Amino acid sequence: MTNDKVYLLTFGCQMNKYDSAMVAGLLRDAGAVFVENAADATLVLINTCSVRAHAEERVYNHLHLLKGRKRHTPGFVLGVMGCMAQKEGEKIAARFPWVDLIVGTRMLDQLPRLLARVRDGAPTPLLAIEEKAEISFGETLARRELRFLSYLSVMRGCNKRCTYCVVPHTRGVEASRPIPEVLAEATRLVDDGVIEITLLGQTIDTYGRDLRDDTTLWKLLRALYPIRGLKRIRFVTSHPRECREELFATMAELGDKAMPFVHMPPQSGSDPILRRMGRGYTRQRYLEVVAAARTLCPEVEFCGDWIVGFSGETEEDFAQSLSLLEEVRFQHGYVFKYSVREGTPAQKLPDDVPAAVKQERHARLAAAQEKISLERNRSRIGVTEEVLAEGPSKSNPRRLTGRTRTHRLIHFPGEAALIGKLAAVKVTGATALSLKGELAGC
Ligand code: SAH
Ligand code: SF4
Ligand code: F3S
Repeated sequence: MTNDKVYLLTFGCQMNKYDSAMVAGLLRDAGAVFVENAADATLVLINTCSVRAHAEERVYNHLHLLKGRKRHTPGFVLGVMGCMAQKEGEKIAARFPWVDLIVGTRMLDQLPRLLARVRDGAPTPLLAIEEKAEISFGETLARRELRFLSYLSVMRGCNKRCTYCVVPHTRGVEASRPIPEVLAEATRLVDDGVIEITLLGQTIDTYGRDLRDDTTLWKLLRALYPIRGLKRIRFVTSHPRECREELFATMAELGDKAMPFVHMPPQSGSDPILRRMGRGYTRQRYLEVVAAARTLCPEVEFCGDWIVGFSGETEEDFAQSLSLLEEVRFQHGYVFKYSVREGTPAQKLPDDVPAAVKQERHARLAAAQEKISLERNRSRIGVTEEVLAEGPSKSNPRRLTGRTRTHRLIHFPGEAALIGKLAAVKVTGATALSLKGELAGC
């Protein structure tokens, strides 16, 4: 039993957000309460990301800042968990000896027990980064920020070996959860008020492959469909090599519940660069997947991640990324500057694109995406969208903010009673980042 006041800070991707929600559920079940302010906490936990150097630097800054707090506050506990803990656990212990607890991605379910050991006086930093551990959250219900939305991790790890990427190192090999287990968690969530679930996997299209029993993502979608009260199903991240037509056919068939939004990072539009990245597909293949999806499921929209300035990327290679972005006309995109990661295969390749060139390509690609996002968003003006109202708008509390089926952000005037419900909203305006609308029928 813990009486801790917990402040949980989460960096990184949706996987980390899911893990944080589950760990928070475990701690809540053990008696902890959660505080909004780190200054009020007796336990600060940082869930970390290693994907780019910048993500790691931010965590190191926090650890430095918390040194004084740790020294001067008896009973205060500081924990580091997640991807950096897994990859850098020993280094963190040596460099930041005031950290009490370091828990890797595969032992997060042990956190309450490990915390109890620290509280009982175990020598610190206590390291728990076993690579082969089998993580299980059992019957825990996630502690969610929004009652009606939840992530659900359906697989862990990644079996790809993209040469720039640290994730296989921080998350280990791919392991899918059998459909009945996912179904049980989804049902618990829906019973607890969730109406929208986002299924998570690093390459969600390979879900089930390791189970060797014909389990697939589209079979999972079909299995989730009958859950009464579940209104929306999303999934991330799609991989261009693995994405199959059956998925889009199933989405079209399930129509109302399967959200037509596909986050499928191209990373680059140039074949030589894709080869150097070890992505396992060509630009042509990417375009074929998009075309098949749009034929089977015309509503579908795409979101992409891009890496600019990867080793050897010439101006012509970069132009290929720009042209792929323009050809696909993505609804949204995330652009990253290549960051060399220790222990990855690409670490051996020269990081030969100067920082200023990375910066400039980043700006050009982001500007091209912004222009297309604006055009695509404007094309929705006059359309009535199905929107899940998520809460008051940050800029104007008298307005609500929600998401359309294709994950567009939309602001509209409405009563707080609509929060957590689906509403029909007519689009009246658009920027590159969001839509503006009015409740249909008003
Ligand atoms: N599993 C997902 C991506 C997970 S990492 C996939 O394969 O698509 C999220 C994003 O971070 C990636 O899509 C990539 O664009 C970016 N990224 C990963 N490693 C990076 C690195 N070393 N430098 C810059 N960006 C990187
Ligand atoms: Fe990283 Fe590639 Fe796996 Fe995505 S598919 S997590 S980019 S190794
Ligand atoms: Fe980062 Fe780990 Fe996700 S490295 S991107 S938090 S899997």
